[in-house]
Amino acid sequence: MKYFDILTGMKYTEPHGFRCKVQSMELQKVVSAYEKDLAVVEEFLEKEHESYVELIPEISRHIIMSGGKRIRPLLLMICSDLFGFHGDVRHPLAAVLEFIHTASLLHDDVIDHANMRRGKTSANRIWGNAASVLVGDYLYAKAFKLLTASSNHDVQKIVSEATTTMVEGETIQLIKSGDVAISEEEYFSIIEKKTAVLMAAACALGAVLAGENSESVDLMKEFGAKLGVTFQLTDDTLDYVGVEEDFGKTIGMDIREGKMTLPLIWALRQCSPSERDRIRDIIASKEADDEEVIEIARFIRAYGGIDYALARAAGFVDEAKKLIAPLPESFAKEALLAVADHILKRNL
Ligand code: FPP
Ligand code: MG
Repeated sequence: MKYFDILTGMKYTEPHGFRCKVQSMELQKVVSAYEKDLAVVEEFLEKEHESYVELIPEISRHIIMSGGKRIRPLLLMICSDLFGFHGDVRHPLAAVLEFIHTASLLHDDVIDHANMRRGKTSANRIWGNAASVLVGDYLYAKAFKLLTASSNHDVQKIVSEATTTMVEGETIQLIKSGDVAISEEEYFSIIEKKTAVLMAAACALGAVLAGENSESVDLMKEFGAKLGVTFQLTDDTLDYVGVEEDFGKTIGMDIREGKMTLPLIWALRQCSPSERDRIRDIIASKEADDEEVIEIARFIRAYGGIDYALARAAGFVDEAKKLIAPLPESFAKEALLAVADHILKRNL
């Protein structure tokens, strides 16, 4: 198997070990402040992925313990704090979000024929598609077991609706695969559904647990959704400009999979009809080689697709920050602003 750095054209025969990125001071401070809560969440994750069927915890551990930053559990903790809720039910609910996230990544790596995840060989490559799908199902089922920790119907509704929306988003993306006519609106609708909705749920849950009114719940949902869109926008940009060992995933995968993301959608809107045909043919072949991936990466840069996508990401973070600006000053509010900045700057 070959791994490939799109900037240098260098090839590696092995994936690089996962290097934990140095976090910005602010985020470090936030993580430290919620360290005890995150440790309890970790206990739930460790206990609940166990099974007497040894293959299940073996595969679960591979992905759960691979350096994920627990952004969704963290957001739930901070948003609960923001509205003054500190009950124990936060911890299993935060684990629910992390399990749903992890299950979706196991399934996503099968769908995307991924080779790497968080700097390690992905589970589908090691154990195969069937085992990955089943362990994703197991974690997803465990999430619903943990969800019974809350008898609040609004909590259950938010989590189940988020999950169905994620599947819809991923399915629309599949339908739109390789479609060079895809619009920006369609792209944003996909990433709102497949990615942003779970961060929106994390933030909304904080307000719901605190018994806040629907106005506050909707505000937090919108805030989380903007963070989620930013997260996916930076992810989609890093797929073209990231350095593999920092990104922890194979660079250039989106184009090989026919995934239409904003940097490419932007460039396709600016280019000539013949360039557009050329790009469509490469994507349609489903077998883009390294040279063709580099050609597309250069094409995107030439038309400013990277700058455009990053500017949009920065715009979403600004909007998210503005949404919570009217809230009273607190550590939790500062923490949310730090997480927002971190999501924009990660690995760039
Ligand atoms: C990563 O996107 C994938 C997602 C954000 C969501 C995947 C959702 C599903 C598979 C459906 C929901 C499934 C369950 C079990 C709840 P990406 O491929 O753009 O990012 P990547 O580079 O990290 O792979
Ligand atoms: Mg993927």
